[in-house]
Amino acid sequence: MSQWRRQVRARLQQVVRWRPARRVPATPIERLRQKFWAFRPVPGPSANVQTMLMLDELRLLESLTDDYWSDSGLIVDAGCFLGGSTVAMASGLRNRGIADRRIIHSFDLFRVEDWTRGQHIPKTMEAGASTRHLFDHNIADFADLVVVHEGDIQNEAWCGEPIEILFIDIAKHWSVCDWITSNLFQHLIPGKSIVVQQDYLCHWWNAWLHITMEYYSDHFERLCDTEYNSVVYLLTRPFPPGALQPDLVANMSREQHIALLDRAASHWSSEQLDLMRRSKANFLEVFPYDRQP
Ligand SMILES: C[S@@+](CC[C@H](N)C(=O)[O-])C[C@H]1O[C@@H](n2cnc3c(N)ncnc32)[C@H](O)[C@@H]1O
Repeated sequence: MSQWRRQVRARLQQVVRWRPARRVPATPIERLRQKFWAFRPVPGPSANVQTMLMLDELRLLESLTDDYWSDSGLIVDAGCFLGGSTVAMASGLRNRGIADRRIIHSFDLFRVEDWTRGQHIPKTMEAGASTRHLFDHNIADFADLVVVHEGDIQNEAWCGEPIEILFIDIAKHWSVCDWITSNLFQHLIPGKSIVVQQDYLCHWWNAWLHITMEYYSDHFERLCDTEYNSVVYLLTRPFPPGALQPDLVANMSREQHIALLDRAASHWSSEQLDLMRRSKANFLEVFPYDRQP
């Protein structure tokens, strides 16, 4: 990150939004629904950590661990990059005095992607080089809270513990999205677990998230969003045996994709609706229907 951007960001850390004079909801879930995280300052320890997240997403993540997390399950940071999401979530735990407990599981390939060079990663680093040392440096103050999983998440086996907060910023392809659905959703706690789909409201290559969340919409309540990017869900109903299908998106027909994408888009308006429509158009163009079983 450039010196200039760092300084702007450091200033923004100080900003605490004006909060309308209304009663603070009594329950963490209601505070989430009413987006009370938006009135927090940006997490202090995030100031010097390069991240792809927006400031509101950092606020959201810190409030999830500081205000919402109830010690009913572990926290998954799927796609931690240089540690931005990990630090925001660890900061919330630390605010509660938690130490020496490896509650956050952070997953990443830790390899430089060419498009990030000069933007999020120094240009001097080669594509494919390891970023693990940058991550380790950034999360050093919180290392006692974190288990690091390095490599392709699709080669991992989850430890089997319940997951109370599942932050997904890794599903850059439908195969990874399908892996997460069939391997991690079964460990969510009905009535308690939060899923954050970071890529839901962005770009145009993320339609598999819309398909997945719409397919399972009877199991989730959409709680809130950060306007762009992240959408936050509560798991409301358990998944009966067999409900979580492997290769869900990969095996669906074009007609099913279209029906779910249209239903997903119907929940949104204005710019967000436009994003959903562009995602649908792009997905239908690139998905390899001719190679389906
Ligand atoms: C958008 S970045 C995450 C940004 C991060 N949450 C932050 O706070 O800045 C997505 C990350 O997902 C990782 N990733 C993508 N596919 C992956 C896979 N199959 N297994 C592990 N990591 C993966 C990439 O290496 C990348 O660092």
